[in-house]
Amino acid sequence: MKVIVTGDHAGMTIRNAVKELLEEKGIEYEDAGCSCETSVDYPDYALPAAERVASGEFDRGIFICGTGIGMSIAANKVKGIRCALTHDTFSAKMTRKHNDANVLAMGERVVGPGLAREVAEVFLETDFDGGRHANRLGKVDEYENK
Ligand code: RB5
Repeated sequence: MKVIVTGDHAGMTIRNAVKELLEEKGIEYEDAGCSCETSVDYPDYALPAAERVASGEFDRGIFICGTGIGMSIAANKVKGIRCALTHDTFSAKMTRKHNDANVLAMGERVVGPGLAREVAEVFLETDFDGGRHANRLGKVDEYENK
């Protein structure tokens, strides 16, 4: 699995916690987020990273900002992206099983690094259930392709 991690200035601590997890698990990743402490604009990071997931270059994305909201709004504008804004492990599991989410968004002003790491772990380790959920996602795709 290849993962792209990105984030703005407001998500550096959680981004580092997620990167630590990926390193420990030996998961290949790229950090495409900002490297500075100055203020940046989250769409400049969310949109190109989401395009790289949608193109198939990466299997999953983990996008971090202050709340996760801006990252999720921007990512979900990219065709083929199913970004879930999730700060608990139950939702992380369900959004993989039922929604086949390919991007996880989290906010570091909402959760600490320990929980963020667990949420990311569940997100990466849970498979899509398919079946009736695939039919439902097909309806979303149909709308997206109109
Ligand atoms: C930056 O201050 C903040 O607005 C951004 O990180 C994010 O939370 C937006 O949704």
